[in-house]
Amino acid sequence: MGILDRHKILERNATLLLIFSFLVVTIGGLVQIVPLFYLENTIEEVEGVRPYSPLELAGRDVYIREGCYVCHSQMIRPMRDEVERYGHYSLAAESMYDHPFQWGSKRTGPDLARVGGRYSDDWHLVHLRDPQAVVPESVMPKYGFLEQTLIEGEHIKELLATHKLVGVPYTDEMIDLAQRDFRDQADPDSDFDGLLERYPGAQVRNFDGAAGVSEADALIAYLQMLGTLVDFSTFIADASR
Ligand code: HEC
Repeated sequence: MGILDRHKILERNATLLLIFSFLVVTIGGLVQIVPLFYLENTIEEVEGVRPYSPLELAGRDVYIREGCYVCHSQMIRPMRDEVERYGHYSLAAESMYDHPFQWGSKRTGPDLARVGGRYSDDWHLVHLRDPQAVVPESVMPKYGFLEQTLIEGEHIKELLATHKLVGVPYTDEMIDLAQRDFRDQADPDSDFDGLLERYPGAQVRNFDGAAGVSEADALIAYLQMLGTLVDFSTFIADASR
């Protein structure tokens, strides 16, 4: 009996065909899935990506608390219209330290994955205070209270420690110095050399232009670093995979 004839048996018997289809799918599935359990990390690391600095992480918390993700996604899809509008498509590594990730799919407002550096701090300040002052037809709510809410970062150590618990590689030094780094990043007169060593590329400025660290300082520090960690002028996507 030739192989085609044997196949005929399968094709003519629904139960047999079901059993064999199931076997094939099971083996195929296992071959794909099992290796993943033995890999330390399925995300390829990309140069430049680092954990959030304490101030950025606090800003990210404000972003989540205020529900900015309800209207904004943070994932640029690899499609021409998106790349032309927002920049290089998002890499998995760029959100590897995000817990929880902020990809989203709802875009009442634009994607924010690469909003960092697109506007000045002042623009953000005015826009948060009164979005309609900048974009008259905007439906974005006003967030002026953020700049009036001063924060001390008294729980920032615990926040870093919690992120460490879920896999972000914060060192003991980073956690010990978290509150200091938190303050220093919003104060250009501080001694921030250590901060820059711990968080390369962190931007140190008085983001809201006012005394003290406010929630607006933290949020703008976060917005201004989004999508800026990877240098796409030198980044080469590995096409062999
Ligand atoms: C109800 C929906 C809504 C919410 C909630 C919202 N936004 Fe927006 N956002 C918009 C819309 C619409 C625009 C486009 C018009 C504009 O610039 O105001 C926008 C624009 C922006 C822009 C400018 C983006 C660009 O590329 O031009 C930034 C930055 C921004 N929002 C940040 C935030 C942050 C931070 C929060 C949370 C504190 C937030 N948004 C909450 C709707 C929203």
